[in-house]
Amino acid sequence: MSNSSTDPVSVEIIDGVARLTMNHPPVNALSLRLRKALADALSAVAADPGITAVLLAGQPKAFSAGADISEFGAGAGSPPDLPTLVAMVEDFPVPVIAALTGVALGGGLELAMAAAARIAAPDARLGLPEISLGLLPGAGGTGRLPRLVGPERAVEMILGGQQISADQGLRDGLLDAVLADPTSEEGLLWATGFAQGDGDPSQPSVGVASHGEGTIEPLHRRPPTRQREDKIAAARANPGSIATLAAARLAKAKDPFAARAAIDAITAGVELSFEEGARVEREKFEERRASAESGAQRHLFAAERAARKPKNLDPRAAKHVARAGVVGAGTMGGGIAMALAAAGIPVTIVEAEQQALDRGLARVRENLTRSVEHGSRSESDAQNQLALIGTSLDYAAFADADLVIEAAFEDLQVKRDIFATLDRHVRPDAVLASNTSYLDIDQIAAGTAHPGRVLGLHFFSPANVMPLVEVVRGAKTDAQTLATGFALARLIGKTPVVVGVCHGFVGNRMLEVRSQQAERLLLEGALPGQVDKVLTDFGFRMGPFAMGDMAGLDIGWRNRKAQGVKAPVSDALCEAGRFGQKTGAGYYAYDGRGRRDDAAVAELIAGISASLGVPRRDISAEEILERLTFPMINEGARILAEGIADRSGDIDVIWVKGYNWPAYRGGPMWYADQVGLPRVAARLRHYAEQTEDESLRPAGLLARGADDDGASTAGGLIFGAAGQGSGQEALGGPAAANGPAA
Ligand code: CAA
Repeated sequence: MSNSSTDPVSVEIIDGVARLTMNHPPVNALSLRLRKALADALSAVAADPGITAVLLAGQPKAFSAGADISEFGAGAGSPPDLPTLVAMVEDFPVPVIAALTGVALGGGLELAMAAAARIAAPDARLGLPEISLGLLPGAGGTGRLPRLVGPERAVEMILGGQQISADQGLRDGLLDAVLADPTSEEGLLWATGFAQGDGDPSQPSVGVASHGEGTIEPLHRRPPTRQREDKIAAARANPGSIATLAAARLAKAKDPFAARAAIDAITAGVELSFEEGARVEREKFEERRASAESGAQRHLFAAERAARKPKNLDPRAAKHVARAGVVGAGTMGGGIAMALAAAGIPVTIVEAEQQALDRGLARVRENLTRSVEHGSRSESDAQNQLALIGTSLDYAAFADADLVIEAAFEDLQVKRDIFATLDRHVRPDAVLASNTSYLDIDQIAAGTAHPGRVLGLHFFSPANVMPLVEVVRGAKTDAQTLATGFALARLIGKTPVVVGVCHGFVGNRMLEVRSQQAERLLLEGALPGQVDKVLTDFGFRMGPFAMGDMAGLDIGWRNRKAQGVKAPVSDALCEAGRFGQKTGAGYYAYDGRGRRDDAAVAELIAGISASLGVPRRDISAEEILERLTFPMINEGARILAEGIADRSGDIDVIWVKGYNWPAYRGGPMWYADQVGLPRVAARLRHYAEQTEDESLRPAGLLARGADDDGASTAGGLIFGAAGQGSGQEALGGPAAANGPAA
């Protein structure tokens, strides 16, 4: 067996142990190339009578991240498929020991679960994350995991999709030992001891397992994973128990189709037999793999990774942020400070008045206490976080800050004044960011002596929880400032997406279009409950009116008054003191039992329709959905053509991460491709005529995409079947913005 440094699997024989090392960058995804190499290596080793054990290893960063996601679009995997490899490992003539380093995820963990034993490095991470791709484990994972860790933990891991630590894996029974370096000398010795079954019983982590009550047996005598039934016996004797265990997770599942499929497979594997479970698992896996819902989530996986590499951003230009500052101790300022402190960055909040600081800090304390109570953070973590948050009434406290984020009142003049003050107090190389959600970053920057160091960092509320940050590139933002803001957002665990300057950037600009249509639908005959239901049926957690009531209607009302804009229904509700949940009434009525439709609101809306002379009619769910989503797509097309977003996939990431667009619908631009651009454009034309609203006419990019879609294969690519489509590219760059689609 000869090895070269480019072989995806290398084989070394050391004292009778064959060490097979997978080396298929970047993450040992089990692509056809790696599967073939692994099958060949296993076959060669099986034929060697001198070999007593196999140590199956990967790279420090990844044992394996599982099946190759990019192969899923092409149909079932070419042979050898993953289940075949898994069977080879489980039925291997000598014990195979999986040595886990870095991540062992999805098919990677399934391969390891078929091994005779699993040893892992202390920092290894284990999981079955298929659910977040709209899938379920497809290579025996739904059957083997419950047999190793019991049905309860298996349901948690498969439906939750999160990674667990090596320590947790050891406690759960997924691992047999945690070793400093399982792939080298120590792992080889462990494998030898395991194969010989002569491990020292006083050291149960070396080659032997302890089966409770002090019984210690050599590990190799236990049956293969698929035949182990001790941990599933109780669930098998109690049919329906898996469904009961999974009920709460199913109710909260982001992709209910994949969750239900996973529950069916686990149930069959536990309540019937491993083989029956494997049959159901395969069938459901193939069904989900081919589904629109999984396609949408795989698109998002790629789009999120593409968004990490914005055009014209050199990550090497980023400056390290050792200390940060926040202006404003309101809900946003406090949330941003918490997010920074949670990542270990000391942060000072500056406010104009002590009372505001006290209130802000009290809110931060309250949030931290609540997260300790919910178990999402330990008491000591909360204390450490709090200790990193300082406060001051003086901008001089920002003297040593590398970056300051302004999170003050949403008013251009207020912000310009703050930036002018900051400019005088911070170091000349400090980055200045505004958390504005609508305002013009260029006008804010213009009030400073160094507009190059200004950018927008638009967090979403609550900022300590919501993952999205729109990183707003101003006309003068320099390379270092942009790279630093972007890197900081990643460092604190957020999903940053670079956008350009316009009113509301990408997310709120599209939201505004949806809000206008929602209000308009009320005037034409719909009621809040009906509109909201269409969007919750589509997969949103909440519709626009329930969301408005939760956020408070008075904020938008005040903004509209300042801009001289009207929203007749929302304005009338506010004039009647109905500000939403906080006043017990808004679009809905609220009492102890929650939200309910309110006849008074129906009456009020009917009165406004009459006074404006808008005839009321029955509006179908289909029209409501199209009226809410298609204008958003249209606005997305304008955003792409203007170069405000780099790619259509960026818009999708923004809407999924910032506005809870259902991941299994892939984001608005992905959804447009699924509906078909010709249909979206035709319906927009129809609604423009029906409502006499010219803004609903298909934008140039959308209209051209629709024409192409009818005539050629190019249309879908404009919005990015692969998530990477950019209006600019489709049009041949900004200079050609009025030219024909390339
Ligand atoms: N298949 C193909 N490519 C993958 C991959 C996979 N399973 N996992 C990661 N990659 C690629 C990424 O696309 C990225 O590529 P680019 O550099 O071209 O952008 C590269 O590997 C590095 O990935 P990240 O940027 O995400 O790196 P990270 O260090 O932040 O995270 C990771 C690494 C934790 C492995 C993360 O990539 C991840 O969670 N991957 C997905 C894991 C997963 O879902 N596995 C299940 C697959 S489905 C399956 O296995 C089904 C089955 O049962 C048969």
